[in-house]
Amino acid sequence: MRVVVVALGKIGLPLAAHIASAGHEVVGCDVDPRVVALVNEGTPPFPGEAGLEGALSELVPAGRLRASADTTAAVAEGADLVIAVPPLIVDDDARPDYRVLDAVVADIGAGLQPGTVVSIETTLPVGTTRDRVATQLAERSGLSPEEEFFTVHSPERVYSRRIFADLETYPKLVGGLSPEGERRAVELYRSFLSAEVWSMGSAEAAEMTKLAETTYRDLNIALANEFARFADRIGIDVEKVIEAANSQPFSHIHRPGIAVGGHCIPVYPRFYLEGDPAATLPAASRRVNDAMPSYAVELLASELGPAAPGARVLILGVSYRGAVKETAFSGAFAVRDELARRGMSPLALDPLYDAEELRSAGFEPWDGEPVEAAIIQADHPEFAELAPGALPGVRVIVDGRGILDPAPWRADGVTVRRIGRP
Ligand SMILES: NC(=O)c1ccc[n+]([C@@H]2O[C@H](COP(=O)([O-])OP(=O)(O)OC[C@H]3O[C@@H](n4cnc5c(N)ncnc54)[C@H](O)[C@@H]3O)[C@@H](O)[C@H]2O)c1
Repeated sequence: MRVVVVALGKIGLPLAAHIASAGHEVVGCDVDPRVVALVNEGTPPFPGEAGLEGALSELVPAGRLRASADTTAAVAEGADLVIAVPPLIVDDDARPDYRVLDAVVADIGAGLQPGTVVSIETTLPVGTTRDRVATQLAERSGLSPEEEFFTVHSPERVYSRRIFADLETYPKLVGGLSPEGERRAVELYRSFLSAEVWSMGSAEAAEMTKLAETTYRDLNIALANEFARFADRIGIDVEKVIEAANSQPFSHIHRPGIAVGGHCIPVYPRFYLEGDPAATLPAASRRVNDAMPSYAVELLASELGPAAPGARVLILGVSYRGAVKETAFSGAFAVRDELARRGMSPLALDPLYDAEELRSAGFEPWDGEPVEAAIIQADHPEFAELAPGALPGVRVIVDGRGILDPAPWRADGVTVRRIGRP
């Protein structure tokens, strides 16, 4: 089988390598010439993906995987399957901006040959595969949808850094616009995946599944956050309550925390609402989780009392989560803005970002001078190890992720607050 994978990012490139490893001939396409050149040298363009370096160094010299900057030409050479996984970028309110997806679809459409199955793996609002992608492919190619070519949606559910393992583990969900298109796509996916391939019955069902699993997580965290705020008010430990509740097998309550960030969990409930604007719970969970950075700053300000205005406060972690160098929708931005709004001076420290990178992300790097307070925003492992003396001058710490052992700090006279654990 000949496969074209469009967009060789953190998801597309490992996927292309996985398909080539199964014995198929794969061309990967990307607009970025640096990415194309590195892949053709057998070098991963980004670090951290387990097994990628080894796979490329074997597949590229063997001629089983090559990269190209010309999507239209690669598709026009004929392919059984074209998989596209470009990012669907969003604005500050997480509303989708379709320009990159449209550009990729236009390039594929311009080269599309009869008999090809086109699978979109990017997470999409429900209805996008049918109403946007298939329509544009038909317009560009002049071919009849679901007769001369087929469009399916198959959401990518892997976790970056362990993609090869996840591809072999999670069921692959495939939903088409016609029974014939879905049947063909399921057969093609089965030829390179040993995980189960599930026929979803429609592209909309496949689109909605990815939005359902991520919206569920956002809602679940929002519920944990509401429980935590109530626990703070009445003086009980929510961690103890959640652990005890989850000892009953029907309860799966997540953990409260200072922020829900990243490209996925804060974004996909909004994609869900694009299709179902009357839904109330996803909108409510977004409001609850978006309010958590301010809540954490409020805890900090209440501990500092009259000393809060003018206080130097260190934000520990600008990444959206620990050990990942990514600031998309990070809670650090809202923490910074709320500190400034209350007249405090926000500074930042993150083991994954140097001073220049912090500045260009919009943060004032910490100079090592004394601070009055600190707030743990990302659960970097380095922060769990912090011991008294590491933060000169500090009187109050808000541990937004519950990772710090408070005992040595408290013994040193520092107030440590954790969300939901008065
Ligand atoms: N990263 C994750 O953990 C993850 C997990 C599950 C699903 N996803 C899905 O995968 C999608 C892509 O994520 P990613 O992390 O791989 O993105 P990424 O930013 O790592 O890579 C995107 C790639 O697309 C390329 N590109 C942009 N415009 C293009 C065009 N017109 N033609 C060809 N290539 C183009 C870029 O040059 C880049 O190499 C996400 O939007 C999401 O829907 C991501």
